[in-house]
Amino acid sequence: MLIRNRASATNNADLPMLDEADPTTGGHGREFVAGFEYAGEIAAVGAGVERWQVGDPVLGTFPGAFADYLVADARFVQRRPVGLAPEIACALPTALLTEFGALRVAGFAAGKSVLITGASTGIGLIGVQLAKVLGASQVIATTRTAAKTDLLTGLGADVVIVTADQDLPEAVLEATDGKGADVVLDHIAGQTFAQCLPATAEDGHVVNIGRLAGPASNIDLDALSYRHLTVHGVSFGFSRDWETVPILQAEEAEVLPAVAAGKIRPVIDRTVGVAEFQQVDDRLRSGAAVGKIVLTFDGE
Ligand SMILES: NC(=O)c1ccc[n+]([C@@H]2O[C@H](COP(=O)([O-])OP(=O)(O)OC[C@H]3O[C@@H](n4cnc5c(N)ncnc54)[C@H](OP(=O)(O)O)[C@@H]3O)[C@@H](O)[C@H]2O)c1
Repeated sequence: MLIRNRASATNNADLPMLDEADPTTGGHGREFVAGFEYAGEIAAVGAGVERWQVGDPVLGTFPGAFADYLVADARFVQRRPVGLAPEIACALPTALLTEFGALRVAGFAAGKSVLITGASTGIGLIGVQLAKVLGASQVIATTRTAAKTDLLTGLGADVVIVTADQDLPEAVLEATDGKGADVVLDHIAGQTFAQCLPATAEDGHVVNIGRLAGPASNIDLDALSYRHLTVHGVSFGFSRDWETVPILQAEEAEVLPAVAAGKIRPVIDRTVGVAEFQQVDDRLRSGAAVGKIVLTFDGE
């Protein structure tokens, strides 16, 4: 389908793609369209596409999104709830796919407790709200920064652990009567991943999503085995349709109604016109953004 894009949100994954093309940083120098997330409306449908019509409001995640128009595989396109502006909607699809997909991989069901490390990341902020909306018995969020506690509590976290001041496993065990969390969504990796294992309940699931503290971790296999844990790695994209398409379909039924009802909202760091792209690149690389950075495409 041809999509008229109105707004795109950025992701950390945009940076290596931009660098690969940028000749000033050793890239290949050929024209290249980066970006994954978009929101707008359908401009044209291809042969064989049945449930969509020109003008339908949409959102989604697909490569080559930083453009006024993009062509996306119809199986990855989602309906944008009526009344949800593109500048807000565009900041949702990657986070919803990733956090919902990770919860499914972990066998999450209502009544289970969820620990989210790096809950203040753009995608973690959605994970907190999603776990709550889907009926988590307890959502435990971590951040390094005490000043982000109110933000996380406001989005539904029952317990916030400030890892600069608190021991992660100790604080999780204290919050769960010594049991640990049933499901862990880890956005940090490094030694944080190792600390998640003794903080997970027996027969629990640990899903690594991000590696902000680096991909290597020195884990204690006793913590893994004696607790009978299952560890998952995820990277949701477009190369494994058999995995991604069913997640998107389930998301449409189980999650998008909550988005339409305003129960899940992205946190937006800033919104700028595409002409100010350098500001966006600088902000993303600074690591100081809280929530998503949004680029608008006004067709100029
Ligand atoms: N698996 C997938 O399919 C998938 C999809 C999307 C993103 N990701 C990955 O998920 C991670 C989060 O992405 P994002 O774009 O949402 O992040 P982001 O918004 O850029 O997150 C930034 C925040 O992460 C925390 N942080 C950064 N470095 C850290 C470190 N070394 N140790 C602990 N905390 C750190 C900081 O929060 P505090 O100050 O609160 O600590 C920082 O404000 C990235 O690694 C990204 O590549 C994976």
